[in-house]
Amino acid sequence: MKPVKVGICGLGTVGGGTFNVLKRNAEEIARRAGRGIEVAQIGARSSNPRCDTSDTPVTSVLEVADNPDIDIVIELIGGYTVARELVMKAIDNGKHVVTANKALIAVHGNEIFAKAREKGVIVAFEASVAGGIPIIKAIREGLAGNQINWLAGIINGTGNFILTEMREKGRTFDDVLKEAQALGYAEADPTFDVEGIDAAHKLTILASIAFGVPLQFDKAYTEGITRLTTADVNYAEALGYRIKHLGMARRTEAGIELRVHPTLIPADRLIANVNGVMNAVMVNGDAVGSTLFYGAGAGMEPTASAVVADVVDVVRAMTSDPENRVPHLAFQPDALSDHPV
Ligand code: HSE
Repeated sequence: MKPVKVGICGLGTVGGGTFNVLKRNAEEIARRAGRGIEVAQIGARSSNPRCDTSDTPVTSVLEVADNPDIDIVIELIGGYTVARELVMKAIDNGKHVVTANKALIAVHGNEIFAKAREKGVIVAFEASVAGGIPIIKAIREGLAGNQINWLAGIINGTGNFILTEMREKGRTFDDVLKEAQALGYAEADPTFDVEGIDAAHKLTILASIAFGVPLQFDKAYTEGITRLTTADVNYAEALGYRIKHLGMARRTEAGIELRVHPTLIPADRLIANVNGVMNAVMVNGDAVGSTLFYGAGAGMEPTASAVVADVVDVVRAMTSDPENRVPHLAFQPDALSDHPV
């Protein structure tokens, strides 16, 4: 069978990581996917010194969506504008899409999934939440038999890195944020990380999957970590607590409640000991009880790991009978309730 051709759009931290993982683990990935996967085109404005792209054509991002040879467009440019145009164009042209773009999915996901359903293509977005932790697949597939009661987690690596360094090393907020930016953890606009917007995007996505509600980013109560000082962090410690920035979603009588804000957690709890750029998500289901998923929440290859997993899923689905394809890869808007938040 001929290899599946993918186009990677965006060759920054996550795009570069995805390119390298697809190349380095090509054999193993092909075995798991049932077909080879070839990076046939890159859409990027500049090269990435950590990637050897000498054998791969580099064009503008929109040209990737128009290339009839490309089966899957991997959107890793971020932001709402060009990314949205690219994704809608790719879907219109009958291509499957893999994206790590939580802002795009949280804000424009309902429209994107409606278009994808109309065109019969898959939009997969595992990498949009909690970096390398396969939390979307865990909720949608591993916990498919449960009624989810609540979920709560540390879902912004930059914020957790800042709070950890402030507590462990007494460093200042601004100093640690600069390091998070240099390490490629922070968003292009780091306000998204420190004001809780990035976590609210991710929580919106998780809640949609867990509770079957539409994506409703504007309903999330959102507070960041910018008003916290080293003194707050130290006082919490002295009282036997840790301050963690959490995203929480739970079923209430009034609907699904979405909240993102700093929280005091007893220092002996597992989630209080999730440090640095690591993320952790607790999910409580009526059958399984409480579960905890832990791993790197940001960074080049942890996020690439989730992107490549989605590519493998899409390739598997491409080789299945489209008439009988189980629609587990994309969020299905027609299965949602109008439950108020
Ligand atoms: N800026 C995000 C974070 C990147 O720090 O968690 C991963 O989504």
